[in-house]
Amino acid sequence: MWNFLARNKQVAAMLGVLALAAVVVVVLTTKGASSNVVEKGPEEAEDVSDDPYIFSTHSLPSEDRFMPSIGNGHIATNIFSNTVYLNGLYNGHKGESHRARIPAWANVRLNSTLTHKPFAPVYSLNTRDGVFTVRVDRDRSVVTQRIFAHRFYNRAIVNQIEVTSKTYADPNLTHRDIWIAVKLMPGAETSDDINFESPVPEVFHGRTIKSSCGKTRESEDLEYQPLPVNVCVYWTSVPDHLVVPQHGSKVFTFAMTVDKNRTVAREELFKVLQEDSKVLYQRHVDAWHALYAQAGMDIEGNLQLSKIVSGIWYYFLSALPSESTSHPQDRFFGLSPTGLSRGGTFEDYEGHNFWDTETWMFPTILLLYPRYANLLLQYRLDTAPVAERLAQETGHKGYRYPWESAYTGMEVTQPCCPAVAEYEQHVSGCIAFAARQYLAVTRDEHWLKHGGCDIVTRIADFWASRAVINFTTGLFDISNVMGPDEDHADVRNSVFTNVVAGYSLYLAQYVSCLCKSYFITDHAEQWADIAWSLALPFDPEHDYHPQYEGYRRGQTIKQADAVLLGFPLQYPMNRRTRANDLSYYESVTRESGPAMTWSMHAIGLLRQGDAGKAASMFNKSYEDYVREPFKVWSENRRPNIGATNFFTGMGGFLQTLAFGYGGVSIHLDRLLIDRPQLPADATRLRIRGLKYLGANLTLDIQESQTTLFVASVDDNWPLKYEDGKNEIALAAKMTLTLSGEGPFTIRSVPWKDCKLPDDVIGRSHLRP
Ligand SMILES: *[C@@H]1O[C@H](CO)[C@@H](O)[C@H](O)[C@H]1NC(C)=O
Ligand SMILES: *[C@@H]1O[C@H](CO)[C@@H](O)[C@H](O)[C@H]1NC(C)=O
Ligand SMILES: *[C@@H]1O[C@H](CO)[C@@H](O)[C@H](O)[C@H]1NC(C)=O
Ligand SMILES: *[C@@H]1O[C@H](CO)[C@@H](O)[C@H](O)[C@H]1NC(C)=O
Repeated sequence: MWNFLARNKQVAAMLGVLALAAVVVVVLTTKGASSNVVEKGPEEAEDVSDDPYIFSTHSLPSEDRFMPSIGNGHIATNIFSNTVYLNGLYNGHKGESHRARIPAWANVRLNSTLTHKPFAPVYSLNTRDGVFTVRVDRDRSVVTQRIFAHRFYNRAIVNQIEVTSKTYADPNLTHRDIWIAVKLMPGAETSDDINFESPVPEVFHGRTIKSSCGKTRESEDLEYQPLPVNVCVYWTSVPDHLVVPQHGSKVFTFAMTVDKNRTVAREELFKVLQEDSKVLYQRHVDAWHALYAQAGMDIEGNLQLSKIVSGIWYYFLSALPSESTSHPQDRFFGLSPTGLSRGGTFEDYEGHNFWDTETWMFPTILLLYPRYANLLLQYRLDTAPVAERLAQETGHKGYRYPWESAYTGMEVTQPCCPAVAEYEQHVSGCIAFAARQYLAVTRDEHWLKHGGCDIVTRIADFWASRAVINFTTGLFDISNVMGPDEDHADVRNSVFTNVVAGYSLYLAQYVSCLCKSYFITDHAEQWADIAWSLALPFDPEHDYHPQYEGYRRGQTIKQADAVLLGFPLQYPMNRRTRANDLSYYESVTRESGPAMTWSMHAIGLLRQGDAGKAASMFNKSYEDYVREPFKVWSENRRPNIGATNFFTGMGGFLQTLAFGYGGVSIHLDRLLIDRPQLPADATRLRIRGLKYLGANLTLDIQESQTTLFVASVDDNWPLKYEDGKNEIALAAKMTLTLSGEGPFTIRSVPWKDCKLPDDVIGRSHLRP
């Protein structure tokens, strides 16, 4: 995404190692599904489960970066790693900022004599229950270890070891207890990022508990973060072995809790230890099930695809806050390209926020869990004062969001790569576009009043001050930028940048009308004039959009850029132009780019009606990026790796399902479903809990038919369905059959008396 230097070195090192390794192909045949050929690299392992929500293996991947994570939006860790990360806890000044390492005091392992021959453990990630398990079947007992980031007691990471003795045990042994050797893995002593005090012991209900508090060592920015951040950890001490009487069964619970507030961490550990162990676990599982009851995407008939989808939602939700009533949720610091369980190193995007959040992860989160979309935008509202300062520093107005941000909202791009921070200004436009989609789906007046009107109009102020009239062309130019294609810095009139800028300006005009009774603006007309007159590169000879002014045909690019005009931006253009953009840019995108390029091409092709070509692009968008057995995504294609667990690639993939195969598109005045269809081999694609203007809908695409089920509607926004022939008022419990290709439109009454944006950029966007 930006780390040219760091990344290239890493890739070069990896190519050296991996050139030696052959790719192994494993054939998995599964019940009730077409046979799936799952490719995997030598450092991966086989997933032997045929449950779409469970990934099981007899051996762990040799590459640690392919290990799965557990998390609850407050804290997260990778399984068996010695590090835990806390939402919003960073260490390091400016570009050195990264997630601060908290030692994993709950990283309990079964003694290796248990997990080696003759005992073959089964390791499973159960995405439905939000738990990682290790199960060992021994002579006299079955040992099950459950590791989870508690979804209700969300300050806690819990480790439970359940030992169940076997009833048929050898009579010669009946008098002997069962001993299970365990061990707290090393690495839990110190942290380079946090000055922890020496642990203090205390006794609670007969158990020894330890605690330690510390402060982060380096402030991100002395002005916006004058003081270090405190963090406190409480944990249970771990004995060398667990003893269970023969014929007995017992659950041992170990936990660690983390909070910036000592009292909260302490109370949370006490609550965890006071709960009955089964109830403790059940509360966690119930919280996960409650989340899945609200929404989900289910695929049938293609086991690998359904597993990838359950993996993605599991990983996304693990990085988003739980709705716990145990202790109120802390301020949320955003969704980073590698989630909450990684980002302590310069290879995993340091836990920072980028345009990835709004452009790649946000769209499907918005459809299924709009309250999380609200939280993602809230992070931008919280950091708005800093964005104002960043605009001023470069002599501009309004809000200029940094390319990367962490705790304060200051620019924290690594020193290696100043160009991305200087030129990738489209990030502010992407935030405005996310706000536009959010308003289209929610019409959230409360949000507008509490920061929404401000952020939208102030981003428009930034673009208005950034666009400069060119007296030769009579159009406004935006110079010195870089589009999503990071191979070309410092260009003029990047099509992507100018379209997101133009949309931001039009949106501000619309929003200032929506907000007019409580928020006064006076440049609304001027914004729309600038947007209308922004330069928009177009090549009439080849009937396509050059990526920027002066782009030479044939130059290779890193990733989808101009093709993003068609989707996600849905910028109106001729069908032919769209087809040309898709086919031309496919031919010049380098193979080493990230997955999202191919998901966007897949969506474009599906909307063009080219399902065959779309299927191969869709395949290309995930097959070489999903790592077995835990469906962890890599930034680069096999055999390269790059950052893991790459949420950005996952986001693109989910968008292909919802907006490509699902055919859904979001507009300010309607929700459209166009050409819903099934991905290859799948027999069913169901998008449950799709939220539109307070209504809860399920789009169910099957081989025989497509239906739309209305679970509930919001009386404030009565919905009407139209398919060209029928017009139906939607009511709760109604099921509609969508026959034909559509488009099927769902719309409500207009929102206030406000004219929708024209969205015409460059004066004459529709080419003959
Ligand atoms: C495992 O347990 C055995 C027996 O208690 C002990 O000798 C050994 O050191 C332990 N191994 C590890 C890796 O802790
Ligand atoms: C810490 O949490 C406790 C309990 O919720 C609360 O009473 C106290 O005010 C908090 N302290 C700080 C410094 O926020
Ligand atoms: C105005 O636009 C023309 C055509 O794109 C370009 O050649 C020229 O350099 C621009 N002028 C300025 C002052 O940027
Ligand atoms: C994806 O494409 C690869 C390479 O063309 C092919 O081997 C594989 O079978 C395809 N996978 C699916 C699921 O279609």
